[in-house]
Amino acid sequence: MKLKPADSIRGKVELPGDKSISHRAAMFAAIADGETRIENFSRAVDCHTTLDAVESLGVCVQRNGTTIIINGKGKTGLTAPKGPIDCGNSGTTIRILSGILAGQSFDSILTGDESLAKRPMKRIIEPLRKMGAKIEAINDRVPIHIFGGQPLVGVEHEMQIASAQVKSCILLAGLNAAGNTTVIEPVATRDHTERMLSWFGIDVVEEDIDPGKLISIDGSAGLTARDLSIPADISSAAFFLVAAACLPNSELTMPNVGINPTRHAILEVLQQLGAIIAVENHRIVCNESVADLTVRSKKGSDRLDGSSNTLSGDIIANLIDEIPILAILGTQLESGLEIRDAAELRFKESDRITSIVENLRRMGAEVVEFPDGFRVECSKLKGAVIDSFGDHRIAMAFAVAALFADGETKINDAECVDISFPGFFETLASVVKSERPA
Ligand code: S3P
Repeated sequence: MKLKPADSIRGKVELPGDKSISHRAAMFAAIADGETRIENFSRAVDCHTTLDAVESLGVCVQRNGTTIIINGKGKTGLTAPKGPIDCGNSGTTIRILSGILAGQSFDSILTGDESLAKRPMKRIIEPLRKMGAKIEAINDRVPIHIFGGQPLVGVEHEMQIASAQVKSCILLAGLNAAGNTTVIEPVATRDHTERMLSWFGIDVVEEDIDPGKLISIDGSAGLTARDLSIPADISSAAFFLVAAACLPNSELTMPNVGINPTRHAILEVLQQLGAIIAVENHRIVCNESVADLTVRSKKGSDRLDGSSNTLSGDIIANLIDEIPILAILGTQLESGLEIRDAAELRFKESDRITSIVENLRRMGAEVVEFPDGFRVECSKLKGAVIDSFGDHRIAMAFAVAALFADGETKINDAECVDISFPGFFETLASVVKSERPA
């Protein structure tokens, strides 16, 4: 994919349905009793991987564009898949589905692509084994072999890392376990699972503790099907928010965006740096906060900047998927940007710290790498050949960097954007205004 510099971003974009919520909608509807109609289901490849997975477990899935109808089988009604379940590139699919499968009566094998094969699975295997699950996985990597027919018991699990996927895996296993299952997280992570379980009629106990959060469910509870409407994905919005906040004379509207408080730190960070973002028509839809966002560039020629341009500590969990685009933002901030406490980035679809640092250097940015983050200085970017490392968020972040750069940028392996945002480049092109030759 070749991209040219831009002068401004103007117009309106409709973003895909939230990826995290779409995954949960598909899996939870599959184990609910009754029929769930899902509106604005994500077009992302990852979310369709989840639909294929639940279909392979005997669930009837009707697809009509972004409307999906799922006939739930109840929490013990899934049937044995004919072969291994391919979770593709999707960490959310494999980790949450493992929790669902640990308490079923049949065996299952979960596999994935080259990137998923490198990602750590011990974080789910250990707690599931503690609950009584029988699991085999060489070096705690895919393929994961889950043996059925094992009685599970509820546990209290204190997580060492902040991960919504791990939390969700344990809670879902807890629905087929005797007694209560409690998860204690070191910092609050995205709470879509808690909100959606409660939408489906489960009593979820949630308590803020210091530090972190405690979540508990009772294993005797079942899910009752209920229609769902999914907001647009704030993590997809982030690329456009940064592009429009930094390019002069920009104004971009994004309707119906999910602004769940465990995901919306990107808005606060941008606003604190001086970006003008209007959050309008705030409403609650299916237990999730939703609003229409309009971002405008700052008047005058001053760059965005803050008093302390370091992001670290608890806020990182709320921003975890936005860090690639925040790195690009850092190149446009008067005082640059430092990200710390983000070692988890090394275990995403690529090692995102390495992917960011390597590509920023190719574009001429001044950047220092740390084990748990990086520091990038305010830099004049130049067009370069970028490697997406097969990682959708790296490809999209550097597409925005290309808009700020001098000359043309080429992104290799750019089709990986389909993992979360099919049509990303077309959507971007529809709002980019440019008079300058590359
Ligand atoms: C997700 C949780 C996060 C995030 C991922 C989606 C989810 O991963 O990075 O893109 O839907 O629960 P971790 O749970 O590994 O932090």
